[in-house]
Amino acid sequence: MNEKYKDLFAPFTLPNGIELKNRIVMAPMTHWSSNVDGTVTDAEIKYYSRRSNGVSMVITACTHVTANGQGFHGQFAAYNDEFIPDLKRVADAIKEQGAKAVLQIYHGGKMSPPELVPNGEIVSASDIPAEQNGVPGKTPRPLTEGEIEEIINAYGEATRRAIEAGYDGVEIHGANGYLIQQFFSGHSNRREDRFGGTLEKRMAFPLAVVDKVKSVVEEYGDSFFIVGHRFSPEEPEEKGITMADTLELVDALADKGLDYLHVSLGDFFSTVHRGVDDLTKTRVEYLLEKINDRVPLIGVGSIYSAEDARKAFETGIPLLALGRELLIDPDWVQKVADGKEAEIVTKLDKEKQEELVIPDQLWKMIINRPGWVPGV
Ligand SMILES: Cc1cc2nc3c(=O)[nH]c(=O)nc-3n(C[C@H](O)[C@H](O)[C@H](O)COP(=O)(O)O)c2cc1C
Repeated sequence: MNEKYKDLFAPFTLPNGIELKNRIVMAPMTHWSSNVDGTVTDAEIKYYSRRSNGVSMVITACTHVTANGQGFHGQFAAYNDEFIPDLKRVADAIKEQGAKAVLQIYHGGKMSPPELVPNGEIVSASDIPAEQNGVPGKTPRPLTEGEIEEIINAYGEATRRAIEAGYDGVEIHGANGYLIQQFFSGHSNRREDRFGGTLEKRMAFPLAVVDKVKSVVEEYGDSFFIVGHRFSPEEPEEKGITMADTLELVDALADKGLDYLHVSLGDFFSTVHRGVDDLTKTRVEYLLEKINDRVPLIGVGSIYSAEDARKAFETGIPLLALGRELLIDPDWVQKVADGKEAEIVTKLDKEKQEELVIPDQLWKMIINRPGWVPGV
């Protein structure tokens, strides 16, 4: 291994005592490849298996905790005990290759396509529709307080299923515009009850989910079960999340006894848009400062080469996630470990779907969206 990259391969111990064998984890990526009924296909098992033998931890595609939380076609489900054997197949495939398996649990809220949820009724914090390319989608129905409690419990139930299915941990998906973020966002959340109205009240739902998941782990799991939390730092809408809001949330999350926080970014080095004094600083710099070593942070976003990873690591971040790069080159970690970083592929070879073990539906999504994955 090239001396320059050896720090990426130092083992890392999470707060709960679990040791990760290196600093590279696989980012959660939806693959649209599960069966219509939420059960798991052989194609997705092969896809995970192919990508789990270099990284220290694999975070799965998001899985919905209630039937009305499904946000994508071909998503695997976690809202019922009947799914435990399928959840287990994914965990086993990852663990067999030597990585820790972490199940990403979520609810799509207003981002759910109506045709995927019971009675076509989509729900959210308030009746503010999601927008795609400036076009508003269907208006969601605001959840009642009782329904909110049920969904908080559902995150707990999905965690219990993850424990029973043999996962090493769960990641609470509070990022990318889904239900947890909809409650935290001043744009999406216009409530005036205990779940909205002030920044503190907008944090109530995200923090209640963390508390529920932690209490379920205490009851059903062991002390080595990993609990992480993912968040998006900023939203573009006028009333949307600012970096100042996020720093408050992160401050609260950092004291929750989590094993890691995971910022969701398209570019690791992106600078802050608003809400703080110095807009030349990166989001990661602000986050590391606020967290102040209370909990490990995972960084992510457009890390393709070993040099990209080394530069990102120089910020002092302890863990890095790779998403698209592991679609393009599943052997990224092994190549760096073997001193063959020059052989890393950073543009998708459109002739190699089979060799790269990318399921048909994921392949179609990538090919039909030019610019999303480099090389397409
Ligand atoms: C195909 C695809 C599916 C994704 N699905 C999820 C998901 O299920 N959950 C999530 O938190 N992020 C998801 N993301 C975002 C990635 O986890 C990651 O943050 C993003 O791709 C930036 O990292 P990268 O540049 O290494 O790809 C997805 C990204 C891609 C490309």
